[in-house]
Amino acid sequence: MRGAIRGFCRQRGLFNPVMSEKNGDFVVRFENVGLRYGLGPEVLQDIYFDLRPGSFHFLTGASGAGKSSLMKLMYLAMRPTRGSISLFGRDIAATSRRDLPALRRRVGVVFQEFRLLNHLSTFDNVALPLRIAGAREQELRKHVEELLTWVGLENHLKARPPTLSGGQQQRVAIARAVIARPRLLLADEPTGNVDDRMAYRLMHLFEELNRLGTTVVIATHNQQLVERLGHPVLHLDTGRLHTPSRNADAAEEPVATDDGPPLPYDPEVLNYL
Ligand SMILES: Nc1ncnc2c1ncn2[C@@H]1O[C@H](COP(=O)(O)OP(=O)(O)OP(=O)(O)O)[C@@H](O)[C@H]1O
Ligand SMILES: [Mg+2]
Repeated sequence: MRGAIRGFCRQRGLFNPVMSEKNGDFVVRFENVGLRYGLGPEVLQDIYFDLRPGSFHFLTGASGAGKSSLMKLMYLAMRPTRGSISLFGRDIAATSRRDLPALRRRVGVVFQEFRLLNHLSTFDNVALPLRIAGAREQELRKHVEELLTWVGLENHLKARPPTLSGGQQQRVAIARAVIARPRLLLADEPTGNVDDRMAYRLMHLFEELNRLGTTVVIATHNQQLVERLGHPVLHLDTGRLHTPSRNADAAEEPVATDDGPPLPYDPEVLNYL
């Protein structure tokens, strides 16, 4: 199955052999990283951590602790003020500007503030990563519609983001982030605007993506989700990261997930992607 994915990606030019991991052990590695905005104080300090391929972490911490800032560093929107960051085994500081977009395209991001394109429909927002990857219209239509149905937006395909509720926009942002099966998914408070039932349904989507090989980091304030799902936690306390630890009380009770239609990641989709 993986062979099929890689084969497809090579064919589409998504997987550039020159960019392959040199250090296959880590998807992300931070060493002694610090970050400040302008001349302000360091908002992230002495950050060390590794993310192994296929891992799933929650990122927690009080408002202002630095979760979104840490994510910005991981999706290459900012450079650290000190220390080093590697993504897919590549030291970012030593990577040429020209090579960064190819690295960045392997990362799916759900932004805290969604960042949807307001002049495009729901369908077109979600189709965008596949179009950029060169997918053909008739191929992508089925997958986009299937995923939007799974997140409960089948009746809003033509709607533009400003006409959607916050929770609906959030689901469009999630669908856009996962549609192209990124190697790394970073979701910043992705369930902040939906009810509990939908929150678990979306988490189920992230877990399924993870089961298929995507490394996942979810920033959240929802302690109940963290405790019930039991993934290891990266905890930020005013800019300092506490090393991952498995949640002791994790997943005692089964997680209620909505039955709904089957997940969109059937073998056919995998072959396609
Ligand atoms: N663009 C910016 N310019 C200056 N300071 C910033 C900027 N963005 C964030 N900060 C500061 O960095 C610190 C961390 O902010 P960040 O947004 O990363 O926190 P957070 O953990 O994501 O918070 P929340 O849970 O509210 O989303 C805060 O002190 C914030 O004021
Ligand atoms: Mg934030």
